[in-house]
Amino acid sequence: MTTTADQSLWLTALPAEPRPPLTGAHTFDVAVVGGGITGLTTALLLKRRGLSVVVLEAGRVASGVSGNNTAKVTALQSTVYSQIRRKHGLAAATDYATASQAAVNEVAAIAARENIDCDLRRSPAVTYAYTEGEVSDVDHELITARQVGLPVRGNTDVDLPFEVHAAVRLDDQIALHPVKYLRGIAAAVEGDGCRIHENSRVLDVSGNRVSTEDGHVDAEKIVIATHYPTLDRGLYFARLELTRAYCIAARVKNPAQALAISTGSPSWSISAHEDKLVLAGQSHATGKPAVEPFRRLEDFARKHWQVEEITHRWSAQDPTSYDHLPMIGSYTPGNTTLYTATGYMKWGLTSGTFAASLLADLVTGKPHELAERFSPHRLSLKSLPDLVKKNAEVAVQMVGDRIIPADATSSETLPRGHAHVIRDGLGRTGVYRDDDGQLHGVSMRCTHLGCFVRFNAAERSWDCPCHGSRFDVDGTVLEGPATRPLPRKEPR
Ligand SMILES: Cc1cc2nc3c(=O)[nH]c(=O)nc-3n(C[C@H](O)[C@H](O)[C@H](O)COP(=O)(O)OP(=O)(O)OC[C@H]3O[C@@H](n4cnc5c(N)ncnc54)[C@H](O)[C@@H]3O)c2cc1C
Ligand code: FES
Repeated sequence: MTTTADQSLWLTALPAEPRPPLTGAHTFDVAVVGGGITGLTTALLLKRRGLSVVVLEAGRVASGVSGNNTAKVTALQSTVYSQIRRKHGLAAATDYATASQAAVNEVAAIAARENIDCDLRRSPAVTYAYTEGEVSDVDHELITARQVGLPVRGNTDVDLPFEVHAAVRLDDQIALHPVKYLRGIAAAVEGDGCRIHENSRVLDVSGNRVSTEDGHVDAEKIVIATHYPTLDRGLYFARLELTRAYCIAARVKNPAQALAISTGSPSWSISAHEDKLVLAGQSHATGKPAVEPFRRLEDFARKHWQVEEITHRWSAQDPTSYDHLPMIGSYTPGNTTLYTATGYMKWGLTSGTFAASLLADLVTGKPHELAERFSPHRLSLKSLPDLVKKNAEVAVQMVGDRIIPADATSSETLPRGHAHVIRDGLGRTGVYRDDDGQLHGVSMRCTHLGCFVRFNAAERSWDCPCHGSRFDVDGTVLEGPATRPLPRKEPR
């Protein structure tokens, strides 16, 4: 991989040796595809119910978004209750609060029961106004969070090294080391007829069979916990929008212990791990340009803390559904074999844990009172205009060859670490020159549904603005829904 985003603070805790990949033919009660927080927690809960479960992970367990975040497990999530209330009403916002509170408690219970050493600490979560302009949103969230039953307080006395203009505070939330937590869950999943295979990308799911390159599993139930539902069915790509965000860890004198996030744009998300500040922000729709996101985060850190060293930089993306509620349930309407969960809006340590408990009930045929609320097949009439708008924008991108200008006729003078677009007959070639001076040319037509990719200078990748696929500079798929690489082209 040539993308330059460094490793996250958390990924250094991955064990050096991967588990062996799947080979041969096997039968399990349940196959879980994806070893992030959703897949692993689901596997654990199903194992506890006496089922034999296999987890098939394309790369390493916990190396997806679950190992590339800011590690807050909280039911207070920026202004999520105001947003859900606006789109779905108070009952839906209350259900989301119930689910999120339950998930926070479940994470603590799993860590205790499985004896997982994951640096778990209790801490207040805070939604704050960094500027005067954010005060009304924070005040509104305070009112709504109270209405949905959260024991929040309005309190500007928060553990931050700058004045905040308003704040909502919810005590007793959780900060942890996500990779250590998931390593612990993975260890608890293995054994007694349950297995985990790493470096086992699922290439096909047909009927009850899940196939990788070197083996297959027949399972009565299959859970697709791949973060973005990668199977080519269910039209998830038309209902989800991916946003990327950037994170840094910095060794500072006094890292703030609160799990804080501001409501404005840009938003500043703050937490701490040991002697390090963890700062995140600079969100944008995947495929749209980011302007020096890491430098902006560093400037903010240096403005408010005495920074000794920036130790880590990373970035990740998370999907939001068109109606701003997670999608958890059967993959297609009425399907009783295939299940999925997605659309966590960057709060999936909490929502992925809740999703696991809902999925465990659905898989074992147990009714769950929130199943309808989070069903992927609900229809939100209030959100239909957003859905239409999103897909109209995608349609424009699909004729992008007419709107993307070529910015050079030759790559001779292209500097190292830069990319440009070259006219190629009626199409376009994306050309990148790496740090060794070598040129890499790729077709700019995304292999998912044909939109035109854009260069992401912060991470040196080709990103698709339509449904968030990302490709390395040599065309390799970094993140789906695309599953095939961008064809290579001769750079000129
Ligand atoms: C910048 C940022 C900060 C965030 N901070 C927080 C936070 O503080 N608190 C919070 O609650 N949430 C946070 N989130 C969101 C949260 O991290 C995610 O929502 C959550 O981790 C998603 O978990 P997951 O299990 O669904 O996905 P993942 O962790 O991505 O797991 C999916 C797994 O599936 C695997 N996979 C994919 N395709 C296949 C295949 N074909 N075969 C086999 N395996 C496959 C992948 O390799 C991956 O390991 C943040 C998100 C971002 C982007
Ligand atoms: S066209 Fe769908 S991700 Fe690119």
